[in-house]
Amino acid sequence: MSELKDLLENNRNWAARVTANDPEFFARLTRGQKPKHLWIGCSDSRVPANEIVDLPPGEVFVHRNVANIVLQTDMNCLSVLQYAVETLKVEHIIVCGHYGCGGVEASMKPGNLALIDNWLRKVSAVAEKYHDILDPIEEKGEKVNRLCELNVIEQVSNVCRTTIIQGAWDQGQKLSVHGWIYDIHDGLLHDLGVSVDGST
Ligand code: CO
Repeated sequence: MSELKDLLENNRNWAARVTANDPEFFARLTRGQKPKHLWIGCSDSRVPANEIVDLPPGEVFVHRNVANIVLQTDMNCLSVLQYAVETLKVEHIIVCGHYGCGGVEASMKPGNLALIDNWLRKVSAVAEKYHDILDPIEEKGEKVNRLCELNVIEQVSNVCRTTIIQGAWDQGQKLSVHGWIYDIHDGLLHDLGVSVDGST
């Protein structure tokens, strides 16, 4: 309990600090949100969306799950996507994975994680699809990291294939989808160079 009390005290101190720096900050947020970015990332506690791109509350709409997976059957993810694109009209969707992802690593040795195995099957399928790239990599960490990158690329493709994104592009909406990966070792993001803007 004392740890949670610390969190509540942290919160009061944070709110006081923000207000001292910008007295109108919270008043502005009560008038609504107009974020330009949707972040689809991993639930990993080391990869907090707003913090690593240094943006304040109100700037990033966020969806996170284990191993940043985008499924056509995931109503949770699709609802976030639809609201972000059709109502908020975000201009950028960033799928962000990270090196050393525990979910991606676990997908390479399925069988004893119960429920989460079903989820991580989607990453195993990515590994199967790209086995010609992964098989020659002998060092395990390197193989995991390559799959982390390939998983991001595959999820970017999954985002682009949704009827939500296709519909937005059909209507000429300004919207691009990007694939990034975060390196926990140095806090740096890397663009995987797979951005799509619907113009082709
Ligand atoms: Co992860």
